[in-house]
This record gives sequence, structure tokens and C-alpha cells, in this order.
Amino acid sequence: MPLPQSFKAMVVSETADKTFVREIKQRELSELPAGELIVEVKYSSLNYKDALSASGNKGVTRKYPHTPGIDAAGVVADSTTRAFAVGEGVIVTGFDLGMNTSGGYSRFISIPSGWAVKLPQGLSLRDSMAYGTAGFTAALCVMRLSAYGLTKDQGEVLVTGATGGVGSIAVSILAKLGYEVVAATGKADEKDFLTRLGAKSIISREEANDTSGRPLQKGRWAGVVDTVGGNILATALKTAKDGGLVAACGNAMSADLVTSVFPFILRGVSLLGVNSVDVPMRPRTMAWQKLANEWTIDLSGDLITECSLEELSPKIDLILKGGIRGRVVVDLNA
Ligand SMILES: NC(=O)c1ccc[n+]([C@@H]2O[C@H](COP(=O)([O-])OP(=O)(O)OC[C@H]3O[C@@H](n4cnc5c(N)ncnc54)[C@H](OP(=O)(O)O)[C@@H]3O)[C@@H](O)[C@H]2O)c1
Repeated sequence: MPLPQSFKAMVVSETADKTFVREIKQRELSELPAGELIVEVKYSSLNYKDALSASGNKGVTRKYPHTPGIDAAGVVADSTTRAFAVGEGVIVTGFDLGMNTSGGYSRFISIPSGWAVKLPQGLSLRDSMAYGTAGFTAALCVMRLSAYGLTKDQGEVLVTGATGGVGSIAVSILAKLGYEVVAATGKADEKDFLTRLGAKSIISREEANDTSGRPLQKGRWAGVVDTVGGNILATALKTAKDGGLVAACGNAMSADLVTSVFPFILRGVSLLGVNSVDVPMRPRTMAWQKLANEWTIDLSGDLITECSLEELSPKIDLILKGGIRGRVVVDLNA
């Protein structure tokens, strides 16, 4: 099929008074950067970082006008490399997509072939975006905790920001693998949702946020997936058990971490950083294979909300306030 000259995309522009507006516009193929692959995007998704890019955060996106979307799943529409054939299904997450490269909130993207993962067998394009960067990051956290020796017989595993994208998928994967998951949330009315995902118990955000000033508290967690940073991450460190493993991937609460050395030198706690953006192709493919096979979770229920590009803007505002539950899939076909 010949490539169209123009296509639909979200465009975020900076106004003269330094505010940012989001519009759904027609863009030209010639406006996309040069790339080995042109992908016709079928689905994208909403992550916290997308909301930052779509709101003018220059730490994420330096120049506007810009099309956000750090995730895209679609079919190869044009390829200058033998590694990918026209018509093949691909997933693109991270690297520079949607940051300073025109992103997935667009019917077409143009990218280096090294950014694309072939759609694993058994995973649909829609479900790959139900996971998206959030699910991929949750999978990387679980891979990292397992690689450092976490097993389900060691005790409770805490997930913070549990109703968010990364949090809700981490809860689901860990529960599927038989871990005893404790979910920490600021949304008191979402206990049933978290229980349905497989959390054995739920604690409030306040309980996960120790303000006593003490360097250690009673050790409880064998493992932690922390998506919020700040004092909740500091609390996770001081409430981890002997040898506890804490995977840190987010900063929804704060980018600061004020802690003492005592969790590390008195309990042998390990703080494991997780970065989903530049993961090399081998572990990247491995994580997607796991999501498509033994770590597959139920993506049919209320974990996933779908919307069109036109319906996305209010959801972007909501995620910035911590108000989204689970994952939002953006249907570019709609
Ligand atoms: N390292 C990486 O490569 C990587 C990849 C993906 C995401 N991230 C980061 O991970 C974090 C989560 O991303 P996401 O896409 O899952 O975002 P999200 O859907 O907005 O989830 C974040 C969750 O954190 C909790 N939260 C929000 N504001 C908070 C606050 N002020 N204090 C404490 N908790 C708060 C909320 O959950 P509850 O209401 O349930 O508490 C919220 O749903 C973000 O910081 C994102 O930038 C990093």
C-alpha cells in the first residue's frame, strides 16, 4: 500500500505566553525524521512521561511543536533494512521515541530499526500496548529482583504506587508468579481493584511513608517494586528485611532520596535501579517474551481503559495528578 502524504497526530505547541496546547492535526510524512523503518501505528499508550512531554516539560522534550508518545505498536509500512519486512508487527518503547523524536500519538512514526522489537508470537498489538513502557518496566523490575535472588518463599513483596501503570502490572505479574504482594496506594477506594489484580493485602500511602525520623523500622519486605521515589522509597529501604531487595524505577512522589546507610550496612538491603529506556536488545526481547508467555496477565478486565487520540487529552491531565487507575491504551485505528 502506498504511504499517505498526511496522517493524524497529536501536536503539542508552545504559545507566545509560554503555555502549551494539544491539538489533533494532520501532519505530513516529510515532517518525520529520517529512519530505517516507517511504522503504521495501530496502538499507543499513556505513561507518566507522556504526560510530562504533552504538558511542556522541557526535561523530557526540549523543542515544540512536538508529537508525544513513548510507546507505539504497529506494522512496518516501509523498511530500508533486511531485518524487518513490510507488514511485520513491531513494538517500539523507550529510546528517544516521543521525547525528542516524533512519537506514538501519531498514525506514523519513522525510527532507527534498532528501536523496534518484533511482536512476539501470542501477543497482539493491542495487548503489547496494554503493557507498554509501564508493563515493560514492571517486567524489568521483576527480572531484576529475581536475578538478585528474590524467591516467593522469602516473604512479602511491596509494590508502591500500586494502582498506577507500572504498579498495577507489577502487582499482577508478581501475584501470577506466586509472590505474596502487598500493595501501597493513595486511593482508598481501589482496594477491590488491587485485590482483583492479586494483592494479598493493601496498605495506605501514609503507612508506606514513615515520618518518624528513625533510620530503621521493623523489617517486613523481602522485595519491593517502588514507582514513586521520595520518602516512600526511603521508607521501603528502612522497612526491608535482612537481605531485602528494592527495585526503584519511578519518581511520581519525588526525585529526592534522603536515607541513611543503616538499611545497607546493618541489614544488607540492596537498592536496584531500573531504567527501561536504553535497555539493550537481548534483555529487551527477553522481557517482551516473558510478557507474551509465562508472565502474561489478564488484560481483559478493568485494568485497561481504551481511548481514541481525540479522547486522550483529559487523561493526560489526570495522570499528572496521580488519578489514573491501571493502563490507558490509545487506539489509533479509532
Ligand atoms: N525507570 C524507568 O525506566 C521508568 C519507566 C516507566 C515509568 N517510570 C516512572 O515510574 C513512575 C510511575 O509511572 P506510571 O506510568 O506507572 O505512572 P502512573 O500511572 O501515574 O502511576 C503512578 C502512581 O504513583 C502514585 N502516586 C502519584 N503521585 C504520588 C505522590 N505524590 N505520592 C505518592 N504516590 C503517588 C499513584 O498510585 P496510588 O494512587 O496507587 O498510590 C499513581 O497512580 C513515574 O515516575 C515514571 O516516570 C520509570
